[in-house]
Amino acid sequence: MIRDDISIPFDVQKIREDFPTLLRSVNGKDLVYFDNGATSQKPQVVIDAINDYYTNNNSNIHRGVHFLSQLATSQYEEARKIIQEYINAPLSEEVLFTKGTTDSINLVASSLGELFSEGDEIIISAMEHHSNIVPWQMLCERKGCILKVIPISESGELKMDEFDRLLSNKTKLVSVTHISNTLGTINPIEEIIKKTHAAGGYVMIDGAQSVQHIPVDVQALDCDFFAFSGHKVFGPTGVGILYGKKEILDQMPPYQGGGDMIAKVTFEKTTYNELPHKFEAGTPNISGGICLGTAISYLSEMDLSAIHAHEMELAAYAEEKLLQFEGMRIVGTAQRKTSVVSFVVDGIHPFDVGTLLDKQGIAVRTGHHCTQPLMDFYQIPGTIRASFAFYNTKEEIDVFIKALERSLNMLR
Ligand code: ALA
Repeated sequence: MIRDDISIPFDVQKIREDFPTLLRSVNGKDLVYFDNGATSQKPQVVIDAINDYYTNNNSNIHRGVHFLSQLATSQYEEARKIIQEYINAPLSEEVLFTKGTTDSINLVASSLGELFSEGDEIIISAMEHHSNIVPWQMLCERKGCILKVIPISESGELKMDEFDRLLSNKTKLVSVTHISNTLGTINPIEEIIKKTHAAGGYVMIDGAQSVQHIPVDVQALDCDFFAFSGHKVFGPTGVGILYGKKEILDQMPPYQGGGDMIAKVTFEKTTYNELPHKFEAGTPNISGGICLGTAISYLSEMDLSAIHAHEMELAAYAEEKLLQFEGMRIVGTAQRKTSVVSFVVDGIHPFDVGTLLDKQGIAVRTGHHCTQPLMDFYQIPGTIRASFAFYNTKEEIDVFIKALERSLNMLR
């Protein structure tokens, strides 16, 4: 596991003041929020921006000549530019607003997938979230394509020699997660992208668990598509991003039809709008887009290497404490990991642990984490997952460990 021993000044107590939900109590205890892999808490600036939009600026975009419509349009398009800069996309029209990572992947599977033919191969990995499995299975059923899966090792790392064997000139697309939501593994996407391009295929990266933890530069990566969700990066739910290379998006048919995505409509023939509008049919989540921009601006002001160092320190501390429990098994022990700690305890169901932790004010996720094939690989029903964000502290881990001890004592 990458562990950064350099101690970078990082005022976590000050940062916590930005997140009002962290200050609340749950079941009579101070909340300990360790479910950041599922969704992150929101800083006050984002909450204020949502309130400000609906209080002062609510209007539809791209449609009106009136003041409010133009204001909302400029805020929405400004947000797109903020996000473009954050992921270093070459062009703002390559940054599409979607409903979230799931929607982004479905867009590519549906639209790029239209260009696929029977016998074309799609490669995913054994650690994918259902949202990066099912859309490709649906495409395979629709088009007669073949789905291949990169296997993983017991530690939760991709078997890259197996990937080399799966990759061929039949490979149309490789779609893999940057960071596993269940294991925390950071995948070697640079190598995957280079090798897939050399074989003539496209690459889509599921970045739902990465952009909030490590720097992402889509130009340096040279990926063809990159997806992430607003709500996991301290922004609102119901909004996300699909980055796609312009030359590929231009070739793809629209995903959905409706307003805003057209150039000219007649009953005989409709022509389509330019990017990004071609893929943004209908009134979008305007406040979501604007406030995702606010969240990304907030994140941009932070030092991502300090965030990474802090989060890795938390993960190392938690793992060290957890391993002191009898029957403890950490699920996901990759060399390159981020701040996700999944574990199981011999003879104890994850759900029972999660329920008892909740009674003590601690939010973790239990279950299969939308990665059922991964659970089948480990032959477990689920895990208990603590996923840390930069606002978490070692003191919270101490509280969690004590609560876990109490819970296990009750269950044994
Ligand atoms: N994909 C989210 C998670 O890992 C919901 O919890």
